[in-house]
Amino acid sequence: MAAIGELGGERLRERMRAVETRLLEISACHGDARRTIEAGGKRLRPLLVFVAGLDGPADAPLVRAAVAVELIHSATLVHDDVLDAAPLRRGRPTVYARAGRVAATATGDLLFSRAFAELAANGSVEQLRALSAASTALSEGELVQRADAWNPGVTIERYLRRCELKTASLFEAACKLGAAAGESADLRGFGLAIGTAFQILDDVLDVTGPVERTGKARGTDLLDGTVTLPLILARERDPRLGRLDLRAIDDAGEVCDRIVASGATEAARERALGLVAGAKAKLPDELGPGQRRALELIADGVALRFA
Ligand code: FPP
Ligand code: MG
Repeated sequence: MAAIGELGGERLRERMRAVETRLLEISACHGDARRTIEAGGKRLRPLLVFVAGLDGPADAPLVRAAVAVELIHSATLVHDDVLDAAPLRRGRPTVYARAGRVAATATGDLLFSRAFAELAANGSVEQLRALSAASTALSEGELVQRADAWNPGVTIERYLRRCELKTASLFEAACKLGAAAGESADLRGFGLAIGTAFQILDDVLDVTGPVERTGKARGTDLLDGTVTLPLILARERDPRLGRLDLRAIDDAGEVCDRIVASGATEAARERALGLVAGAKAKLPDELGPGQRRALELIADGVALRFA
């Protein structure tokens, strides 16, 4: 993402620094919230807000919008780790592992509520609606995932819908929040496509690992009963995986190796790369060359992601 920093110039770098400062200010009120923010992340969603709103009028409202999106993202991860009983996130113990279910749920709630407070300070009703719609979609996505857990019959279409809800909706909202501030082109389709690719690649990385690269345990989705694209494709390719009882997996690493050997992770990766290429090709005509290039670089950053 360094190339986008170059392209966006000092203004973008300053805005990204302002996001970090504000995130730390907001999370300073509670140790687990602060540790969650300090664990970092790619800050892809704030970047998307800024690039979508490249010619936005004032800095402060756009920074608040970017902070709000990142706070929602952080809240969902803290809650997701409770639901998954996950030990690691970004290479560090999760709030759930450190402080337990109750504290982690409350920490996620805190980050979630601060997101809306942040946006409400300067944001428009349109922006609040977009963030609220994305939060609803994220929750629906999580519920779809729970409903489909352990079901080997999950179709690719249903899997992709889940990706849109639980991940791409926040990318879409980031584009909408930025564009709403800067009267920019409609980039929601771009956000949805790269967000879906992001989730597919995340699911590939869950199978391929390794933990040193992803900061998360390998095979977690399998052990949670979460049926993802690599598993769906691998079951079509490898009869032994097709017959596998998902509840009877005791060596997730071995099943991951089999999924990789079937070629399914590579096929899933190609599908994600196809979405990224399509998102770049379908960028609106009215974009200026600088904004177009920055969006292309963000899309490439998603395609190249390893964590
Ligand atoms: C991580 O994906 C989780 C999400 C993208 C969304 C989780 C959504 C919720 C917990 C519900 C909504 C919560 C709020 C606060 C609105 P993953 O589980 O596929 O990836 P991982 O491997 O990083 O855990
Ligand atoms: Mg998870």
